[in-house]
Amino acid sequence: MRNKPPYIALFLIIVLSACKHDIINNSNTTSADTTVVVAPPVSGGTGSGTTPAVSDTVCFNTDILPLYVSYCGSSGCHDVNTHREGVITTDYAHIMNGIKAKSSSTSRYYTIIVGGSMPPRSSPQMTTDNIAMIKKWIDQGALNTQCTNVCDTTVFTYAGAVKTIIANNCGGCHGSSPGTANVYLGDYASTKAYIAANTTLFSNAINWTSTTAAMNMPQSGKMVACKITQIQKWIKAGYPQ
Ligand code: HEC
Repeated sequence: MRNKPPYIALFLIIVLSACKHDIINNSNTTSADTTVVVAPPVSGGTGSGTTPAVSDTVCFNTDILPLYVSYCGSSGCHDVNTHREGVITTDYAHIMNGIKAKSSSTSRYYTIIVGGSMPPRSSPQMTTDNIAMIKKWIDQGALNTQCTNVCDTTVFTYAGAVKTIIANNCGGCHGSSPGTANVYLGDYASTKAYIAANTTLFSNAINWTSTTAAMNMPQSGKMVACKITQIQKWIKAGYPQ
């Protein structure tokens, strides 16, 4: 009887250290490339139409990847084919080469944007909101969060939804005049005028139903359905401001 407590203690030590070991192994194998599927509820939305109303999680697929694709990953720069300086910013794994989770100050693909060296001065620039979003994502652990239900589709004015969708997903290539392929979508008037004159082509581009794959936009991956819906509702409603 007198020997029992030490045995229990030994047993507990073995069990606890085994658990601890398991946890360490788990965190190693699931490090920063974990895909987390997040579907923030949007009912009673904020009205911005582009940010999750309830969840504060930054969505990699809808908030971060489009910025790196549009502002850094265009053809001739940091796409897979060109990969200038060995840098590719068109998918999660490659972007993580320059990101350190929870440490924006040592994340090269963040500091170079904050420092103003990239994108080049002659190219469209990210907004301070864009840059703050990237920092928030890094602070949250730079996870490969994949979100689908991120829009309030009852909001589809230009100011309330479309402007931000186009700026974030298309702005790096079509945000300054004349725009890649002479498609300029940098403000309300130009976006409305372009779509009004090319409605079918535009619709095919964002729905990924173009006759050639190169004409599907953004070329790196289709936007989430609810954002496409917001743009289509905007067009159908006659481009409300
Ligand atoms: C990384 C750069 C890039 C981004 C981001 C991008 N585009 Fe493009 N866009 C291009 C290029 C390159 C072409 C020419 C494609 C071709 O015809 O081969 C093009 C062409 C187009 C065309 C004309 C289609 C054609 O080829 O005749 C439309 C419309 C268009 N883009 C809309 C958009 C929209 C809307 C978005 C955002 C949702 C977007 N693009 C995002 C690079 C981009």
